[in-house]
Formats: sequence, C-alpha cells, structure tokens
Amino acid sequence: MEPEGWPGHIWLEGRTSVHLRNHQPKPSHMPRGPAAKTGEGFLNPAMAPARTRSVMLLADAIEHGWLVPEGKTIRALDALCATGVRPRRWRKEIPSQELLRITANDLDSDALAWARQSHKSNPVGDNLEWVPEPSRFAREQEGVVEDGIHWIEGDANKLMIQAPFQWIDLDPFGSPVGFLDAAIQAISRVGVLEVTATDTAALCGSAKTSAVRRYGAVGITDSYMHDDATRILLGTIARIAAMHDKSIHPILSLFDGHHVRVSVLLKRSKEEASDWRESIGYRIRSNPYHFSKQAEGEFSGPMWTGPIFDANIAGRMTAEKAISLCSGKDEDLPEDWDDIDIEHSKREIERTVRHISESAELLSQDHLLIAVDELGIAAGIGQIPSMKKIKSGLEDAGFKMARCHMPEAMFATNADWQTILEVARSAK
Ligand SMILES: C[S@@+](CC[C@H](N)C(=O)[O-])C[C@H]1O[C@@H](n2cnc3c(N)ncnc32)[C@H](O)[C@@H]1O
Repeated sequence: MEPEGWPGHIWLEGRTSVHLRNHQPKPSHMPRGPAAKTGEGFLNPAMAPARTRSVMLLADAIEHGWLVPEGKTIRALDALCATGVRPRRWRKEIPSQELLRITANDLDSDALAWARQSHKSNPVGDNLEWVPEPSRFAREQEGVVEDGIHWIEGDANKLMIQAPFQWIDLDPFGSPVGFLDAAIQAISRVGVLEVTATDTAALCGSAKTSAVRRYGAVGITDSYMHDDATRILLGTIARIAAMHDKSIHPILSLFDGHHVRVSVLLKRSKEEASDWRESIGYRIRSNPYHFSKQAEGEFSGPMWTGPIFDANIAGRMTAEKAISLCSGKDEDLPEDWDDIDIEHSKREIERTVRHISESAELLSQDHLLIAVDELGIAAGIGQIPSMKKIKSGLEDAGFKMARCHMPEAMFATNADWQTILEVARSAK
C-alpha cells in the first residue's frame, strides 16, 4: 500500500530522486538550518551536504581499500534512516555496489514506508540482490532486502546488539549519546562510525547543565565554540570506545550550520585504547589558546585535543570528486529542472566540501586555529588583511595556512602566535 500523501513532489539530492511531502516547500539549493518546518522524521534538505560527504567517504573506503581486505564486502548501517535518503544515496551513487551490504533501520513505520516506496519507484537498475546474514541471536535476520537495501523497522540499539557492521551512521534528533555505546560495540574489529549531533547548545557551551550531564564537559561561547563542540563529541566517543577496548582515529570532524558531524575510524586494540587519555585535555584561553592536561584559568573541555582529520582521506575530498560522484547526470534530473536548477545544484555540491581538502594536512596534525575577526583585535589593526594576504604572508615566513570549513572565517596554521600577529600587521 502506498503511504498517505504519496508521491509528494520530487527533488534531486545528489544523484538520487527523493520524494518530499506535499506540504514541504521545494528546497532552495542552499538550504540551511534545522528541520523545524519540514516536520520530524522527514527529509531535512539542510542535511544534504552531510549526506554527500557520507557518500564520498564510503566511496573512498571502497576505492582506496582502507577499511576491509580487497574483495571483502562492507556492511553499512544507517541506524536512524528516517525516509532513507542516505542509504538510498549510498546505494545509487557509490561505485562497486557488489562490495556493499546496506542496511537501513528506523522505528517510524510511516517514514520507512516513504523510504521503501521511494526506493521502489526509483530503482537503481543493476538487479543487485543479496541475502542478509543471520543475526547473532536468530537464524534469520528481520526485515526485507529490496533492490539491494535491507530495510528493518525497529529499535536501533537492539539491531546494533544483534549484528556487527563495518560502517554505522547515527543521525538522531538532538544528542547521539544514547546510541554511542551500542554502535561502538556493533562496529567490527575495524570500522567507521559517523555521528551527527544537533544538540549544539550543549556542545557549544550555552546549555551548561546538559553539557555536563551528556558530555561531562564545560564550554565557553566564544569563537572557538564550534571547534570545541566537535572536540567534545570526539572526546566522548573516544572515552566510550576505550571502555570497549577500541581506539579512535578521526577522519573528518566538522561543525556545519546547525549540527556537529564527526566520522571516526574505530580499531579494536587494548594497547591503543589504554592510551586514550593522551589525546584528551582542555582548551585554555591564553591569547589565543593552548591545549593542556589540566583545567586552569578560563577553559573548556575535557575534549579531544588530537588531530581531527585524516590527511589522506580528507585530502581526497575535492570539489572535482564531489561533482563526479554526486552531481546529477542527465538521466537523474527531474523533469521540471531547468539549467538554473542544475547549476545551483552543482554549486551546492561543491560548497559541501569547501576548504576540506586544502585544510586536511593541517587539521591532521597540531595546529593553531585562528578566528579572523579576533586576530584583528589582538593585532590592534583597524582593517584585517584578506585571507589571501595572510596566507601568502605566513607562507613567505615558511609556514602553512589553510582556511577551514567553519561557520565563521577561520584558518588553521602551524605558525606561532607572534608570527601570525606580525603577518597580520604587515600584510597589505
Ligand atoms: C533526524 S532523523 C534521521 C534523519 C535521516 N538520517 C536523514 O538523513 O533524513 C532521526 C530518526 O531517528 C528515528 N529514531 C529515534 N529513535 C530511534 C530508535 N531508538 N531506533 C530507531 N530509530 C529511531 C526517528 O524515527 C527519526 O526518523
């Protein structure tokens, strides 16, 4: 039976046709902000960039063979898939589908009905079929495989206890803390965990009680709050991972608009997990800041103080790669799309990875993160030089500098604070 309101109206996200409910407005090509108007459980177009990056990361794991031995399949779970856009995009846009076993789960039968009907109405066309492995506790796995996606209606925590996966996506409403323990246990010996958190008030330090309760951390609402938010979430994941003898290696950690999104490689290793505290500390405000093991003065944390990107993987997240994988081809385009829609959609996909590959090297090692506005104040200059000028000044002094994918203008550098101030004062 078709879900109520079917087929709604059709939108293209990446290369995948999605069905929006009739009351949902046609998205702009650069949607921002939370899903308030679209309704819970239904497609939030503002999350399209996060889904595009997820397609790119999983495609990269297959293309560059960094997750499973060559020729082995990757079991990928979208544990809270709602209307199934992410698993449908994994299925449609990632090459070498024979190496993927995609499972899509949600509690909401209405959202799942839309997901399955959307998938059925927009077949991938490669006749991929597979049989799910039995769960740990039953001879058969629940759910149904349709056109290469295994759909399950149930509680995510229950499912993650029943079966191991090499890739798990957690995209809940608000905080992910209630799902982290089961997801970390469900990850095989090596696997990727992708986590979205929309409880940014807690992670950024304005909702202090929730921050302490959920993350055991305190924040400061200044220009470092977005970087703090990603690091506080990473620190929480590292702590829970260590409880299960696992270590984390961040691949991509971003604050994007109204949410935090981190993707980490988890590895089972008692030795490495025992060292988890080595990458945990506090950010001490000291003009500009430093990380310390001890909380002192004005501080935020505890948080992850290690690298937040993987240089190679994030370094391959270029605009060219995003376009080649995720930009709609002629056969994908909705009938009512004109040249302007196509152009806007391309630009949106490019924006999805803006500054990521350029900043990958710096963000995968020790660096200083600088907010441009604050640099102007600290350097005592009326007019702040352009990023381009600061970059060439720092490079002339023998350092690296890259703009970061952040809500405000920020850059990372391996230069020391004095050099940064001098460059800001002298760059013209
Ligand atoms: C923010 S939405 C997911 C959005 C989706 N990932 C996307 O990209 O469109 C959160 C989803 O979690 C589901 N959910 C909440 N608690 C759950 C649980 N314990 N098990 C499974 N699904 C759950 C809700 O039904 C809702 O669809």
